[in-house]
Amino acid sequence: MPTILITGANRGIGLALTRSYLQDGWRVFAASRKPGESLVKEAEEVTLDLSNPESIKALKSQLAGIPIDIVWNNAGVYLDKNQNLEQLDNRDWLRSFEINCIAPIRIAEALAENVRMSERKVIAFTTSKMASLTVNGAGAYAYRSSKTALNMAVRCFAQDKKSQEISCLLLHPGHVKTDMGGPEGDIDIATSVTGMRKVVDQFNPTCQADMDRGYFNYDGSRIPW
Ligand SMILES: NC(=O)c1ccc[n+]([C@@H]2O[C@H](COP(=O)([O-])OP(=O)(O)OC[C@H]3O[C@@H](n4cnc5c(N)ncnc54)[C@H](OP(=O)(O)O)[C@@H]3O)[C@@H](O)[C@H]2O)c1
Repeated sequence: MPTILITGANRGIGLALTRSYLQDGWRVFAASRKPGESLVKEAEEVTLDLSNPESIKALKSQLAGIPIDIVWNNAGVYLDKNQNLEQLDNRDWLRSFEINCIAPIRIAEALAENVRMSERKVIAFTTSKMASLTVNGAGAYAYRSSKTALNMAVRCFAQDKKSQEISCLLLHPGHVKTDMGGPEGDIDIATSVTGMRKVVDQFNPTCQADMDRGYFNYDGSRIPW
């Protein structure tokens, strides 16, 4: 049975990904900092707080020896939504880096052996179009810069893991109607999840080799770095 671990699985896009993979018969590890609150009983809940390195270490020990086909680093924060630079607190900026960039890489590092043991060997990271240096807009300093840093860190990590045949991919889910995206989002969660899953399912080493063209939008097109 193919196996996936999804972070931020208790709500929003992560919850929809959990439901979608379960529906297709996957074994799903649903990671959240509030286990027991999951709305999906068939998933195997695991505790994970991205702001706590000990929590990542505990997850590694708990899952030791289990092959995981896809680790999907979905959890994230947008702490400076609707804030300008003056309003942005440095602690929130640093926290954005911690949750959006450092923790996903640490999780990938902690679970790389699980992924290496699996058939598909994929680590997916949810980034944002707002991270693009090429199509950059204004404002949202903390969110944008933390996701741009994630993009760079993932490219480094992908190089590191090449010899283990682990593929890393970066996905923008679209502007989605969730707590984070707000009701003004362009697409619903189902459209985003269906699109991103198609990209992940069709992913192969050629896509990895072609990463200079940018990262993936949910519809399969490339967003320039
Ligand atoms: N929605 C959009 O339009 C949009 C656009 C571009 C990119 N994205 C990215 O897509 C991903 C999912 O976004 P979403 O719209 O589903 O957001 P969301 O509805 O706000 O959900 C965020 C998820 O991340 C989890 N999370 C936050 N901090 C955490 C921590 N310290 N430890 C563990 N989990 C934590 C949350 O858990 P709690 O319930 O415990 O807080 C929640 O499950 C994020 O990476 C986001 O940046 C979203």
